[in-house]
Amino acid sequence: MKAFVHEYEEITIKEMESPLPAKGEVVISLRAAGLNRRDLNIPNRRGNEAEALVLGSDGAGVVEVVGQGVSNVKEGDEVIINPALRWEKNSDAPPKGFDILGMPDHGTFAEKIVIAAEQVEPKPTYLTWEEAGVLTLPALTAYRALFTKGNVKENDTVFIPGAGSGVATYLIQFAKNVGAKVIVTSRSEEKRVKAKELGADVVLDTNSDWVKALTDETVDLVIESVGRATFNRSLEVLKKGGRIVTFGATTEDTIDFNLRSFFYGQYQLFGSTMGSREELRNMLDYLEQFKTKPVVDEVFPLEKAQDAFDYLAQGKQFGNVGLRIG
Ligand SMILES: NC(=O)c1ccc[n+]([C@@H]2O[C@H](COP(=O)([O-])OP(=O)(O)OC[C@H]3O[C@@H](n4cnc5c(N)ncnc54)[C@H](OP(=O)(O)O)[C@@H]3O)[C@@H](O)[C@H]2O)c1
Repeated sequence: MKAFVHEYEEITIKEMESPLPAKGEVVISLRAAGLNRRDLNIPNRRGNEAEALVLGSDGAGVVEVVGQGVSNVKEGDEVIINPALRWEKNSDAPPKGFDILGMPDHGTFAEKIVIAAEQVEPKPTYLTWEEAGVLTLPALTAYRALFTKGNVKENDTVFIPGAGSGVATYLIQFAKNVGAKVIVTSRSEEKRVKAKELGADVVLDTNSDWVKALTDETVDLVIESVGRATFNRSLEVLKKGGRIVTFGATTEDTIDFNLRSFFYGQYQLFGSTMGSREELRNMLDYLEQFKTKPVVDEVFPLEKAQDAFDYLAQGKQFGNVGLRIG
């Protein structure tokens, strides 16, 4: 089978052996997959001496072979893959043993994948293959950050810097669904227009003076993933006692942080990452209820996965970037 792998110094398309299922596993014939920022960072994290690893966390496809003892799916079922491995029940943090699919385990940028049957869920029928393929990791991340950690409520004002990110496009839709007011920022005029079309109430240029622009607003909740470039500026617009959830650091992990301003402001800071299977199922019900669809910016054939990587690295996307398989 064809796969897009990281191997030694390069990322490349490679012919790999088709996988077979062990007890409790299924082989999925993939139809679509989704890229995430994490995929771009994996070659650096693995270094130059690692053997071939199939990249990719998100994917959707058809169950092709069912291993012994599997009862939740059968051959021919259309499924999506849950990339949050070994995290079943809701908990404050992932349990020991939690990993994200696509490192160290082989991921979804391939014609086939073998995976524990418990890691698949029925594909939402109202989604296309491409929509289903890009869905899970960013939507689950948005769901936990906004609901479980951020505890968003009707009439809250939610502030989201970096409107173009895959996760942000779900945050905007989810927050609007509960009746929150949504303020986003982007450096790109084109993305600001798209964010408005998606439902954002207020859109700001990331490079503008937010405090001045938001003097008449009370921000209850900030969902941060840009990192160093915006974290402290996001805190400045948050109301005293407000909540800030961070799940990413696209621009850098480390920041200077004024503790005195923070404790006097009595802010509440939460870290978040992905989500449990229980949250994923709640998220899928929530999507179904509102018929929410992923924003798919661009889809490349698997053979052109390198172009998809380059496109994501340039940061021009609004929403998700996908791969078409087969
Ligand atoms: N913890 C988890 O489970 C989890 C899951 C998913 C993602 N993440 C992390 O969350 C972050 C978001 O991921 P993503 O893939 O959705 O999006 P992404 O491609 O990393 O983009 C994030 C947004 O950041 C903004 N941005 C980038 N550089 C900037 C700069 N110098 N100044 C201001 N804004 C800048 C961009 O906004 P504009 O282009 O609109 O200006 C961009 O749309 C990443 O760091 C990712 O690794 C974590």
